[in-house]
Amino acid sequence: MRLSAEFREQFIQHEMRTHGRKNGFVTTGQEARLLKWLPKIGLPKDKTLNMANIPENSPIVLEIGFGNGDFLVDMAKKHDDWTLVGVEIYLPGVAKAVGRLEDSGFIERTRITQLPAQYVLEHQVEAGQLDGIFINHPDPWPKARHHKRRIIQKDFALLLVSRLKQGGFIKLASDIPELAEWMRDILDNTEGLTNVAGDAGYIERDEDRVFTKFEQRGLKAGRQSQFLHYIKD
Ligand SMILES: C[S@@+](CC[C@H](N)C(=O)[O-])C[C@H]1O[C@@H](n2cnc3c(N)ncnc32)[C@H](O)[C@@H]1O
Repeated sequence: MRLSAEFREQFIQHEMRTHGRKNGFVTTGQEARLLKWLPKIGLPKDKTLNMANIPENSPIVLEIGFGNGDFLVDMAKKHDDWTLVGVEIYLPGVAKAVGRLEDSGFIERTRITQLPAQYVLEHQVEAGQLDGIFINHPDPWPKARHHKRRIIQKDFALLLVSRLKQGGFIKLASDIPELAEWMRDILDNTEGLTNVAGDAGYIERDEDRVFTKFEQRGLKAGRQSQFLHYIKD
């Protein structure tokens, strides 16, 4: 079974290469799960969260760059009233997460998109619609000439704030000290946000936090992650 052109047009990002990285292959079994679930819980380009049958009064929490879904699955288990919006441009990650969410039994409380976070926030989420946003271990883009590819930039930070409700949160993690500092410095200087740990501060690791693939990878390489927590004023 292959994904039809029509299905791809609706649910799969057009550019199959992201900054030169091949946006790979999914197995036949994974394709079957995508075909089964994306029409139900997928957020295609022309649909907004308002059209996604989200139960009234359910807090809406978005995760950007969910990778293979470690954190998304764990959140779905822990917060049975939340609707989780998972955003991930890497198709094999989306495929893996959809399988794990189906196996967990919580998939119907998620909405999944393979579009870039910038597009999702600009076109599919309304101002003030989100209760929270998680960004765990975003790509560090360590070379100075690639810093502009880092997801947290001044304009993107303003976009994040605009999509949050008053009192909503942004929580971030990174195992790369230079990137944690970069994100902290931008977010500390973004109007409308308060750093819960105080200016230039990091919070302690939440005790019940699951270890994602990239947090584990950092630990194996001897790097402790750092954590940031902001509230919208
Ligand atoms: C280093 S991985 C971390 C994955 C996972 N959060 C973890 O902690 O293991 C960063 C992820 O962000 C995704 N990503 C990068 N830019 C993105 C964007 N603009 N929108 C959505 N996802 C993005 C990448 O495809 C990748 O899966």
